[in-house]
Amino acid sequence: MPRRDGSLLLANIGQLLTLRSPSSKCGPRRGQDLSELGILEDAAVLCVGGKIVSVGKTKDALRDPWIKKNQKTLTEIDCGGKVVVPGFVDSHTHPVFVRSRLVDFEKRISGASYEEIAEAGGGIRSSVEGVRKASKNTLANNVLGALQEMALQGTTTVEAKSGYGLTLDSELKSLEAIREAANRWPGTVVRTLLGAHVVPKEFQSCSPKYVELVCREMVPKAARRKLAHFVDVFTERGAFSVKDTAKIFKAAQEHGMGTRAHVGQLSQANLQLLLEFNPASFDHMDHVSDDDIALVASRETVATLVPGANYFLGLEKYPPARKLIDGGVPVALATDYNPGSSPTPSMPFVMSLACTHMKMSPAESIAAATINGAWALRLQNRKGSIEPGKDADMAVFDVGDYREIPYWFGSNRCTLTVLNGTCQPL
Ligand code: NIG
Ligand code: FE
Repeated sequence: MPRRDGSLLLANIGQLLTLRSPSSKCGPRRGQDLSELGILEDAAVLCVGGKIVSVGKTKDALRDPWIKKNQKTLTEIDCGGKVVVPGFVDSHTHPVFVRSRLVDFEKRISGASYEEIAEAGGGIRSSVEGVRKASKNTLANNVLGALQEMALQGTTTVEAKSGYGLTLDSELKSLEAIREAANRWPGTVVRTLLGAHVVPKEFQSCSPKYVELVCREMVPKAARRKLAHFVDVFTERGAFSVKDTAKIFKAAQEHGMGTRAHVGQLSQANLQLLLEFNPASFDHMDHVSDDDIALVASRETVATLVPGANYFLGLEKYPPARKLIDGGVPVALATDYNPGSSPTPSMPFVMSLACTHMKMSPAESIAAATINGAWALRLQNRKGSIEPGKDADMAVFDVGDYREIPYWFGSNRCTLTVLNGTCQPL
């Protein structure tokens, strides 16, 4: 299989979803533009050195003099009329943990809520001991396993958060584990410090001190060691207030890191103060006011919706995707892969949930899982569409129509993933 320095031609593509920009408009996709997939039929894509160099019709590619001249060294893949999409950008995951949370799972089935379970000693805090005790190597192996599973379902870029260590050392260890796993995986990984996931037990009676620790130790050390691109906060009752979040965002900004936050998962937060920091993304957004929808619609902050969590927590309500999209907010979709609320590596499943439970169209779900995911990571110049100059990240699906990607749920139709020019067949 070609490595990223080789050249690769995908030909005979039935539908190529380029997601190229619909006009001269820039910025993340909003409203009608979320349905513009830039579909080319009978298409081909040429990649060299891990980058896309040309996109066009198969018949033109086969006549191309460069392709003819380099035929011997070119790896040619006949897609046999299948559908090719930009590799999915999973812009919200928590892969650094040791084991599943089956006690929480059974308690919830018996009727306990996410918050009740957390108050009784389950939830995020119950994943902490395992991470603190684990070696970096064990954590890296777990992260790598998750990345590999994600790639099998078409994901080529993953944002990965720390957040189950909650001490300086174990948060840095978690970020290092992500870096080690990423070095052993051909896709792209964006690291996020989520030291402010929840206040750990030992700081329970003095949570301001924990916020200080995040601002004065975790953020500066992670920045100095170039361990994280972003800083995230779980802004929620029982976790961190908007004021705490603003303090942590300020520290992130002073150290040159981007910001993002979990907001509105269980209760509404006031987003105005946080928007001053120009966060790349607000995630969850199940509870959001009309005023905040209008505010976010006027910015480049993406709303990253994670319906896998609603599904797994057995909630009746899902994020208000229609209201957000119709209100002009750029929406992305992500798995929120984690052991407590969303243990799924599958972007196609999340897209299926977005269609059936949030009334997003299949086209909107694809743009939200690709180009808007790239925007949510500020990687829009490299990821999220199939255009010359972008990274060679693509997924081949064994379907004749792109709408089948969210249609066939619980089965994997992805037959080939190309990550920075490297092919991973199923
Ligand atoms: O995004 N809400 C905070 N973090 C995760 C849940 C993590 C956990 O329960 O372990 C989420 O749903
Ligand atoms: Fe999360």
